Amino acid sequence: MTQARPFIKWVGGKTQLLDEVRKSLPRDFASRQHVTYVEPFVGGGAVMFWILQEYPNIERAIINDINQELIYTYRVIKENVEELIAVLAHFQDEYIPLAAEDRKAYFFEKRVCFNTKKTNPVETAALFIFLNRTCFNGLYRVNSKGEFNVPHGKYANPRICDVDNLHACSAVLQKVDILCGDFSETGRYAGPDTLFYIDPPYKPITETSSFTSYSKDGFNDEEQIRLRDFCVQISKDKALFVASNSDPKDVNPSENFFDTLYNHFIIKRVSAARMINSDASGRGAISELMISNVVNA
Ligand SMILES: C[S@@+](CC[C@H](N)C(=O)[O-])C[C@H]1O[C@@H](n2cnc3c(N)ncnc32)[C@H](O)[C@@H]1O
Repeated sequence: MTQARPFIKWVGGKTQLLDEVRKSLPRDFASRQHVTYVEPFVGGGAVMFWILQEYPNIERAIINDINQELIYTYRVIKENVEELIAVLAHFQDEYIPLAAEDRKAYFFEKRVCFNTKKTNPVETAALFIFLNRTCFNGLYRVNSKGEFNVPHGKYANPRICDVDNLHACSAVLQKVDILCGDFSETGRYAGPDTLFYIDPPYKPITETSSFTSYSKDGFNDEEQIRLRDFCVQISKDKALFVASNSDPKDVNPSENFFDTLYNHFIIKRVSAARMINSDASGRGAISELMISNVVNA
């Protein structure tokens, strides 16, 4: 069976950090029973797909995101994957043979269709995946009216309908409850056998690094503080958590925002190959914060 991996490209994908997440888990995690896994900002789900396949002792999972179309897509993959594959395969068969200009026109037609928000769940999910696969850099950005506005990308042969991976994702999602809302709503699942992996929109560390907005509501410092309060509360409820964020010290060594905010928790700095600037010179290994309440990590 194919190993399930994210079915979309998503800014902030954590594929490169999986090993650091593993090292942050309790040493006996694999042998714990009745574990519930909660991911309040699931995005592309790189950690969720990995952890649920790596640790079969996780009995149940809850994922959440504020992005409605993303969550509709997860639900369709869980419940109606065959119909989704049929629609996506049709889009792929129509798009791939077209010449460059015709591909662009096809993309814009589908973008308008997606933004009408009048499609049924299967069509919405198919459009969401199609646009993600064919838009510029797989970005998701919306304007002030909530309309997806990323331009067409120029991939020679984008994989629009990855049948094996969609089946594998659907299989993994069978034990997952899929919620759409604010992260705080997942707090009710906190308990002694619960692990939260928390990957919020990162605090921008340079003026230009906040190049994308996942939804019309931004995630500013007040939101970061609200998230810290959430971590305090789930810790009181005896849940374990591991959270990632950007490290503002990379740009300004005297910046102590997260060190102060999370001073009662364990903060590790790990190396991450991540793009921090939109120009090529900004690429390079920078550090990333892993914050947790797992004492033996
Ligand atoms: C950094 S991404 C997560 C990346 C993901 N872990 C991955 O590997 O692809 C952050 C996610 O938080 C979501 N988000 C933003 N504000 C939110 C909120 N208040 N509550 C829940 N989700 C939110 C965004 O839609 C986005 O998908």
